[in-house]
Amino acid sequence: MTKIVTVALGARSYDIKIGQGLLANAQEHLSPFVKDRHVVIIADAHTKELYQSELAHNIEPICRRVDCLDVPAGEHSKSLSQFAELMEDILALGVDRKTVLIALGGGVIGDLVGYAAASLLRGVDFIQIPTSLLAQVDSSVGGKTGINARVGKNLIGAFYQPKLVLADSDVLRTLDERQMRAGYAEIVKYGLLGDASFFEWLEAHGEDVLNNEPEAIAHAVMTSCMAKAQIVSDDETEAGKRALLNLGHTFAHAFEAEAGYDGRLLHGEAVAVGLGLAFEFSAELGRANGQDASRVKAHLAKMGLPCSIADLPAGQADAGRLVSHMMKDKKTNNGILTFILVTEIGKSEIVSHIDSNDVIRFLESRN
Ligand code: GLY
Repeated sequence: MTKIVTVALGARSYDIKIGQGLLANAQEHLSPFVKDRHVVIIADAHTKELYQSELAHNIEPICRRVDCLDVPAGEHSKSLSQFAELMEDILALGVDRKTVLIALGGGVIGDLVGYAAASLLRGVDFIQIPTSLLAQVDSSVGGKTGINARVGKNLIGAFYQPKLVLADSDVLRTLDERQMRAGYAEIVKYGLLGDASFFEWLEAHGEDVLNNEPEAIAHAVMTSCMAKAQIVSDDETEAGKRALLNLGHTFAHAFEAEAGYDGRLLHGEAVAVGLGLAFEFSAELGRANGQDASRVKAHLAKMGLPCSIADLPAGQADAGRLVSHMMKDKKTNNGILTFILVTEIGKSEIVSHIDSNDVIRFLESRN
């Protein structure tokens, strides 16, 4: 059965539809948004092969026209040059303000196409069809769109909400185990930041989620999307509590920057290590107890995720270099480090003015 979570943002509210067979019935689900309109479906090389023509054929009977474009797979497509090429390709099709873009892919496609939609003719409608678990539970929801700059990730972008998110669990069948685990780390994050009973449920049912067992995956994706929808509704532009969604991410982004986005370390894997460290750092600062940190790390390890610095690819843990990456992060204001810390599982808080020397000492003690 299809589950629906609404992101409540007044006139810009939208639904996230979660379940099986959504893509196969795309015409029914997309009709209110694409009927009699020009649609451009944008995929990457993988999702083009797997789903693009099927989706185009499915919705063609109800659309005025359907075009398909694709970009290379991978983080490199979130570049200014790829963005420029995509915009020129879309414009060359002959578009108008009623044109609808569909992002068919993982987080890279969602971010790139969302930003293209925000920019095209000063804003056209777009729909997210996330095809990775990580995109279904995090990046496709909440309207963060953007591309990378030479000096850092996601530094060029806009808050721009989709009209619909279609999270079809059938498409997760083509993901390899590593990708599923990486997405799972973001699911765990929601339990840890605000919902201890969800974390308990994951401790009991995490393997069913990773195995894409229908009831379990639907519950995990829906609970994650409900948590994110609530936070985004309260704080769309991250003036306050939306920052809680960055639990584990200050560490994670530094590891990713150090790794150089070369595929050796997936975002979700970096987040898993970051979650373990956020609990340990909270304990070190006397805000939480060490047993919670051990419990969190035990669950991540049981699910096959890295959970400590020792699990990272070699040479990625120089404390001074990691802190200098943190200083350059767009969430660091005037050199003031902010961390999302915890008091216990399910209770997180935003803590600014963290002393960089404390972070260096902590990271060195974990190396
Ligand atoms: N991924 C964090 C956020 O959407 O705010």
